[in-house]
Parts: sequence; C-alpha cells; structure tokens
Amino acid sequence: MKIALGCDHGGITIKPAVEKVLKENGIEIIDFGCFDSSSVDYPDYALKVAEAVSQGKADKGIVLCGTGIGISIAANKVKGIRAAVCHDLFTAQMCAQHNDANIIAMGGRVVSEELAEEMTKVWLNTPFEGGRHTGRVGKITAIENKYFK
Ligand code: RB5
Repeated sequence: MKIALGCDHGGITIKPAVEKVLKENGIEIIDFGCFDSSSVDYPDYALKVAEAVSQGKADKGIVLCGTGIGISIAANKVKGIRAAVCHDLFTAQMCAQHNDANIIAMGGRVVSEELAEEMTKVWLNTPFEGGRHTGRVGKITAIENKYFK
C-alpha cells in the first residue's frame, strides 16, 4: 500500500507519529512535505496529496494542518476525494467504516502525537462496511458528478 502524506507548519508536529505507524506497517510513503516549521499554505499540500489519491498514484492520503479543517476542505475540492477531519478514535474508525474516507485529516494543534498515532492505526485497519453505506457514498459521488466539471 502507498500513502500520500502532506502537512503544513501547524501539522508537522504530529507528522513523525504518523510516519512511525506507516513505517511499522511496511507502507510506502509518498511525502509531499512540508519538511520544517516554516510557515506555508495548507492548500498547496492538500492539493498534492489529493491529486495523488485521485489519480491512483497513492491508495490513500493523510493530511495534517493546525486543526485538520483547512487542509481537509482543500483536499475535498479534488474529484474523488472523501477527506475526513477526525479528532478521536471513534471518528477515525467511522470515517473508514461508514464514509470510505480515502484521506484522513488531523490537527497538530488539536490531537497529541499519541492520539495521532492511534487514529492512524484505527483508520488504516478499519475496512469500509459497504452494505447500506455503499449507496450513501454513491450519493456523495452523484453530487460530485453534478457539480464538478
Ligand atoms: C495555520 O496557521 C493554520 O491556519 C492551518 O494550519 C490550519 O489550521 C487551517 O485550517
């Protein structure tokens, strides 16, 4: 499995925790940066990760900013992306199980390194449940097809 990873200066604090989990699980990381705490613009990193996932160059993506909000909003502007900002283990599980989220977003100013690590594990290890959720996710795609050109 390949995971695209991107963050801004607000998310870089939890990047090592996320990378640790990916490496421990033998997952190939496509690291789009950023690589230090200099101030950068989160949409630039959201776009790189979202395009990699949307184009099939990565299986899934992880994006990190201060809150997880801005970078998830930006990632969701790319066709085919279902980016979910999560704050705890339950939301990390549910976004995979019910929403088939192909990108998880977390906030370095919101969650601890330990929690980011656990959330990454839960999201990676939770399969999409399918069933009634398939149709609901399909309705998200239908909205996308209606409005994305
Ligand atoms: C950067 O200061 C901060 O605005 C950004 O990391 C993120 O939290 C935006 O949603």
